[in-house]
Amino acid sequence: MLKAYRGELLHFLADPAKVALEDSYQYLEDGLLIIKDGLVEQIGDASELLPTLAEGVEVTQYENGLIMPGFIDTHVHYPQTEMIASYGEQLLEWLENYTFPFERKFSDLEHGKKVAEFFLTQLLDAGTTTALVFGTVHKESVEAFFTVAQQKKLRMICGKVLMDQNCPDYLSDTAQTGYDDSKALIEKWHKTDRLQYAITPRFAPTCSSEQLNKAGQLLAENPSVYLHTHLSENKAEIAWVNELFPDSEGYLDVYDQSKLLGRRSVFAHGVHLHDSECQRLGETDSAIAFCPSSNLFLGSGLFNLQQAQKFDVNVGYGTDIGAGTTFSMLSTLNEGYKTQQLRSEKLSPFQSFYLATLGGAIALDLEGTIGNFTKGAEADFIVLDYHATPLMDRRMQHCTHLEEKLFILSMLGDERHVKATHIMGERV
Ligand code: GUN
Ligand code: ZN
Repeated sequence: MLKAYRGELLHFLADPAKVALEDSYQYLEDGLLIIKDGLVEQIGDASELLPTLAEGVEVTQYENGLIMPGFIDTHVHYPQTEMIASYGEQLLEWLENYTFPFERKFSDLEHGKKVAEFFLTQLLDAGTTTALVFGTVHKESVEAFFTVAQQKKLRMICGKVLMDQNCPDYLSDTAQTGYDDSKALIEKWHKTDRLQYAITPRFAPTCSSEQLNKAGQLLAENPSVYLHTHLSENKAEIAWVNELFPDSEGYLDVYDQSKLLGRRSVFAHGVHLHDSECQRLGETDSAIAFCPSSNLFLGSGLFNLQQAQKFDVNVGYGTDIGAGTTFSMLSTLNEGYKTQQLRSEKLSPFQSFYLATLGGAIALDLEGTIGNFTKGAEADFIVLDYHATPLMDRRMQHCTHLEEKLFILSMLGDERHVKATHIMGERV
């Protein structure tokens, strides 16, 4: 079935940091997005495409806004939704005091479903249509998440946390049960509808070498699943990893020795990486999830985007709820911009919106499937609203250029400025 959406249209074709700016995006002031059976069929100027549409095709017009691909959140914890904004600690104490006790509740499938329902509604309200999501150690947490995501027809990636040391007994699995439970979840859910599985060791401190090796074994046995973990977020964490794994050459090398790097591996944070680690991430085609809201909230540090770019590391944005303090990708872009200001670097609005859409898709090895309006891509898209709040409305009256409009959206925008979210062409 065909349908069409008319309005101002923007999507990215390439990384603005790698190609000439004008080659990195397509922008149509009065564009038409034609969708066939939930997939992008064609995009172009409305004046050219409208006359070619068969009679009776429904055309929805969005005015005073911008139609673009849905945002992609490359690192977020759904079980931490209800502990967002927990006061006063940096990473390791924050995990111990707040996170672990909260995650305990996810042994209960019904609790997981309720939180997943709320979490996914928040994501969609914020214009995020795909996310790479942590569960908890309990297989029920992933069962709950996928059940709800499947009902909503979403493209979502999730995995059961692996953690067998340095954590409370009530949150501990073993190398073997972690392997077995993950394997069973992969068999049941990976590639079911739009769902995909991520093998999810929490981070090196809570995983024995045996557990990390088993994760590597599982990844080798299932090369189309993801690997999702944390890396070099906080200085005390890094010192602890060096103590726990004296035979490794550093934090990333712990994962590398267990064969966890690759095209579908996503490492959250990477705030304090050596050049040699960035180089290794780049040459293995691994990705980093840049989580500025979380990095500021936990006082972890300022992500070095230029270092990642220099070594050609794939980067996407992550909210990292509940260490991040917002579901909104627009607000996350705001925080990202400010982290780069503190490093005396300019993060352009084109680069920001690229990272939130196509950059995220590439980080997740999903380009061509989501992230832009290439023919055949899944039509998950959003409509941003220039007039949703009086302040945004006023500010927009003084600007004409796309670059400025994008910058204002990213500085003043949040959930209120997401007028509509569409999944496979259908408004939700
Ligand atoms: N490192 C290990 N676990 C976590 C977590 O839950 N959140 C963050 N931000 N970092 C982590
Ligand atoms: Zn995290």
